[in-house]
Amino acid sequence: MQVSLAQDFAMGADPVLMAQACGIEPDDKQAEFLRSTAPRALLCCSRQWGKSFCAALAALHVAVYQAPSLIVVVSPSLQQSTELYKKISELLAKLPGAPKTMLESLTRMTLENGSRIISLPGTEKTIRGYSGAQMVIVDEASRVDDALIAGVMPMLATVKNGRFVALSTPAGKRGFFYEKWTEGGEGWERISVPASMCKRISPEFLEEQRRTLGTLMFEQEYFCMFHDSGDSAFSTALIELALRDDFDVFKPL
Ligand SMILES: Nc1ncnc2c1ncn2[C@@H]1O[C@H](COP(=O)(O)OP(=O)(O)O)[C@@H](O)[C@H]1O
Ligand SMILES: [Mg+2]
Repeated sequence: MQVSLAQDFAMGADPVLMAQACGIEPDDKQAEFLRSTAPRALLCCSRQWGKSFCAALAALHVAVYQAPSLIVVVSPSLQQSTELYKKISELLAKLPGAPKTMLESLTRMTLENGSRIISLPGTEKTIRGYSGAQMVIVDEASRVDDALIAGVMPMLATVKNGRFVALSTPAGKRGFFYEKWTEGGEGWERISVPASMCKRISPEFLEEQRRTLGTLMFEQEYFCMFHDSGDSAFSTALIELALRDDFDVFKPL
C-alpha cells in the first residue's frame, strides 16, 4: 500500500503513528517508551506487558526512518531471538509503504534503504563483532550475561544519538539490569509497568498466578519487584559477601 509523503514523514516523527499504521494501538506507557529519545532506557515491566513487542516496534522504527542504520537486538536464547525477529518481520509486512527486504535469514534482515536488523541470542560468540549500531536492544536483560551486555554497549561508541534499551522482568537482586535500575543516573530513563496497569491481563488471571507461583515469584514476574530467588538457600547479600575478599570483620547479616 502506498503512503503519502506527509504520512510517511508523520510516521517517521512519531513511532506511535507507525505502530497504528501496522494495526496496533500502543498503551500509554508503550507510547511513552516508543516516543522517548533518551539515549539509555530501562523498562522493568510485567510478563506479557509487551516488552518484546515494544522492542520490535522500536527496532523497526529506527530501521525504516533512520536509514541506513544497524539495529542489534539481543535475547537470552536462540528461540527468543528467533521469536523477536519474527515479530519484527511481521510488523514490517504490515507497515504501509515499508522498504523491501533485500536479504533475510531467520534472525537478520537487510532492507533496501540500507538498514540492517540483527537479532541474536546472548550465547552468540560473534556478537561483539558488530560496530556502529544506531540502537542496541537487550530483551529480558536480567537473564542475559552481564559480560555480554558490556560487550554490546561499545557498538554505540561511534554513532551520533545511538540508543541502548534494556527491557526485562526482574530476576533477583544482582546483575547489570538490577544495578542500573537501582542506581539510575543521568540519561538513564526508567519505565516500570506492573501487570495491574496492563489491560490485557485480567485480575482473575493474576489472582490465579499469585496462588500458583507464591508471593515472591508472583511479585517478581508481575509486579516488577526484585527479590532474592525464592528457592535459593542463600540470599544475594550472602552470596556477594562470599565472593568478596576485601572485608575485615565478618558481620552477621
Ligand atoms: N498494544 C498492544 N496491542 C495489542 N496487543 C499487544 C499490545 N502490547 C502487547 N500485545 C500483545 O501481548 C502479548 C505479550 O507481548 P510480549 O511482547 O510477548 O510480552 P513480554 O515480552 O512483555 O512478555 C503478545 O501477544 C503481544 O502481541
Ligand atoms: Mg518478551
